[in-house]
Amino acid sequence: MAKAKDFIVGLGLLGSGTVGEAIQDLVFAAGNRKEPGLRLKIAKIYTRRPDTGHPKKKKWYTTHRELFTTNPTEVIDHPEADIIIEALGSEDERDLATFKGYIIRALGNGKSVVTSDKAVLARFGQEIWEAAARSGQEIRFEACVGGGIPIIRALTQSFAAETPEAIYGIINGTSNYILSEMDKYGKSYAQALREAQERGYAETNPKSDVSGLDAEAKLMLLAGVTFGLHMSPGGVWRKGIEEIHPVDFLYASRKGRSTIKPLAVARSDGSTVEALVAPALVPHDHFLAAIDGATNAILFKGQKSAAGDREDKSEIRGWNYAFVGPGAGGGPTAVAVMGDVWELARGAREHGAGFPSLVAPGTLAVQSQARISACFYVRFVVKDRVGIVADICQAFGQAGINVSEIWQLGHSQEELENLHRSYRLDVKPREILPFVITLERATVGQMTAALAAIRRKDYILVEPVWLPIWGTG
Ligand SMILES: NC(=O)c1ccc[n+]([C@@H]2O[C@H](COP(=O)([O-])OP(=O)(O)OC[C@H]3O[C@@H](n4cnc5c(N)ncnc54)[C@H](OP(=O)(O)O)[C@@H]3O)[C@@H](O)[C@H]2O)c1
Repeated sequence: MAKAKDFIVGLGLLGSGTVGEAIQDLVFAAGNRKEPGLRLKIAKIYTRRPDTGHPKKKKWYTTHRELFTTNPTEVIDHPEADIIIEALGSEDERDLATFKGYIIRALGNGKSVVTSDKAVLARFGQEIWEAAARSGQEIRFEACVGGGIPIIRALTQSFAAETPEAIYGIINGTSNYILSEMDKYGKSYAQALREAQERGYAETNPKSDVSGLDAEAKLMLLAGVTFGLHMSPGGVWRKGIEEIHPVDFLYASRKGRSTIKPLAVARSDGSTVEALVAPALVPHDHFLAAIDGATNAILFKGQKSAAGDREDKSEIRGWNYAFVGPGAGGGPTAVAVMGDVWELARGAREHGAGFPSLVAPGTLAVQSQARISACFYVRFVVKDRVGIVADICQAFGQAGINVSEIWQLGHSQEELENLHRSYRLDVKPREILPFVITLERATVGQMTAALAAIRRKDYILVEPVWLPIWGTG
């Protein structure tokens, strides 16, 4: 009996950088995944410079020269490309608009799109999903959040019957690597960043990672899928990790039995959702405290799953599911992209054409940033004199914030000199007094008002560092 021919699904690949090449590795390499009766085939690959030195000749160009083009429309309009993979990357607003154009054109051509480009979805998501709905095609974006962690699929498929309360975790490996190194080895922020760059964990321009912009783009997608929110860039309350100093780890650890982790949080009170990206104090015995280096971890709390197990400690700590894995890297990201591709190739229509979400869009509103609330850690460095702590506590009181504790460590001469040097202070090291005030639950608006008054005081030597405290209050 003649063997039935495989059904071939054609792919058009936009991008041949780290992720694009890892996708080519998966498709071209011997032993690549096959399914009975179904085969994937790359029809065309777009890259601006396939054969020149930027940064080097593309890996598969020699053996698959005929597939490469410098014209993106040859990929998007290719008659044999059924699914378009967008693996482009840029922070430039005009480039993102161009990439959005590619996606919308592909959808208009009746092709589904798989992307790893969270920046384009964060900036142009609404427009892209409207185009998908018009064309009846799908957008898949598993690789955009948590690299290789299958979180979008878990949320949209496995948790379809859940009522979500919170989704949060560590979704920027670069920031987590830097803070882990500062915590474990007492390194300065600058030293930890430099080493992250040398090891390839951080870009030459690390702004997007360390300022929280990358995590914001991912959180927007997570909050969209979990709570049906369509957020615009700037809607998330965002703090970067740049101001964290080794002294913060001393206070967090010795006085707060905590470490500092770069958190991204979206949590609902049933009518609004707070969305924030910030370094936060996390207790040493919390699950996230053990997530080190470039690993990502995303925790989910669902009301329905919690109902039967009130005594579960993890549930009390604000989560009942944990997803952990490599948050970046060509290999894991390409595997996530190809997972989406295979599903589409099999003809799966999990999401329909609209943006997938557990809660119907429009049910919940985004909490205004000023009303986001938490318990806070505030670290001061002042020029020591009598009455400062009382004066600061009074300022917090005037903003309606209750002080919880005052933390003061006996600092060694070396620690004070380190502070003196790193902040380039023009008082003598022995005149410096670092201390921390922790606060009961307060809003970001109250904190901003109190700190505006406090930073005008003449004894303040360094901009106060204020961080949410996770898992209390
Ligand atoms: N790397 C990861 O671990 C990871 C993980 C999750 C998601 N992502 C996302 O996946 C995407 C690709 O990441 P990557 O690591 O592969 O980045 P990359 O190595 O820097 O590659 C970027 C790709 O985008 C193309 N590109 C950049 N600017 C362009 C422009 N103005 N016009 C046309 N093409 C342009 C480059 O073209 P040339 O080939 O012509 O240079 C290259 O193919 C990004 O959106 C990134 O955020 C990456």
